[in-house]
Amino acid sequence: MDGFTSRVRTFDAFPKVDSQHTVRSQRGGFSTLMTIFVGLLIVWVEIGGFLGGYVDRQFTVDDEIKSNLFINVDMLVAMPCEFLHTNVLDLTRDRYLAGETLNFEGLNFFIPEGFKINNPNDAHDTPELDEIMRESMRAEFRIEGARINEGAPACHIFGSIPVNQVKGDFHITAKGYGYRDRAHVPVEALNFTHLIQEFSFGEFYPFINNPLDATGKTTEENLQAYKYHTKVVPTLYQRLGLIIDTNQYALTESQHVCNIKDPNKLDIPGIYFRYDFEPIKLIIIERRLPFIQFVAKLATILGGLLILAGYLYRLYDRLLGILFGKKYVEKNTERKSGGLLDNDVKESFQDI
Ligand SMILES: *[C@@H]1O[C@H](CO)[C@@H](O)[C@H](O)[C@H]1NC(C)=O
Repeated sequence: MDGFTSRVRTFDAFPKVDSQHTVRSQRGGFSTLMTIFVGLLIVWVEIGGFLGGYVDRQFTVDDEIKSNLFINVDMLVAMPCEFLHTNVLDLTRDRYLAGETLNFEGLNFFIPEGFKINNPNDAHDTPELDEIMRESMRAEFRIEGARINEGAPACHIFGSIPVNQVKGDFHITAKGYGYRDRAHVPVEALNFTHLIQEFSFGEFYPFINNPLDATGKTTEENLQAYKYHTKVVPTLYQRLGLIIDTNQYALTESQHVCNIKDPNKLDIPGIYFRYDFEPIKLIIIERRLPFIQFVAKLATILGGLLILAGYLYRLYDRLLGILFGKKYVEKNTERKSGGLLDNDVKESFQDI
């Protein structure tokens, strides 16, 4: 063992200055400590960044054709269910009798806490990846086409309507207005005051926040029409192999009181959700550097740090020399007598 160590010691590729000629200084020690500290800090931050990954956002042309997309609805209208007419019309001229998949449940009208009533809902943020992943619990409405207690003063409408991924319009009107119905609801009974708990496109993720969720409108007018125009952007979130394929939408809204006296104008009171799909897809992915690349990056940064520290130290030293003279710079240095660069020797060199 001893033989090995001594052999290794002899096999030292790096030329060394004999330790009796080197000079150690407090300043040098301190700057070494600082360099190590900063180095460790960088390693710490970089490892954190490596484990956490980074979020990459890209737009692509949406190449998927989803012929069967869902509109998820959960809302309360201040009119008895038996008065209401729900329908979807779209560009393909398909007419979906939304009433067949939606559920209608008679309730009393009430405004729960936390709802934004009569606010313009034109501002909305893109949800963050973290938020989406936390709230990615998927759900389905368990029942379809139920009709309960239809005479109650308000109507809870909920469910998912399958539609084509083309421009369309989902609306809630009253019987006898716009469509030929057997019944005709008297004007005094019309009340399109409503609350929206959920309005979204695609798979139903009840906890993801959409611009219309938890909003509502109240009106004193019987012939009120509300129009929500939504532009839907297909969005894919991905983290650690978990993919959430969903849709966001931008919203503009308008409202007016209808004039049903004019037979030439098709102005029908009701709640209208117009939708259109953008041909692009937003992809939000959390990515990670490959490990080798991470190590290379770290090595590059640390190498740079060492070089920088060397420069800074020398600069500092020289600055002190300029400001306070050579004597000050060398004051705190510890030296052994007889060194090659001993003051006496240097001075004697200068004399020559
Ligand atoms: C509609 O119902 C709401 C809630 O009950 C009420 O505040 C509002 O005055 C009603 N509007 C009309 C036009 O009857």
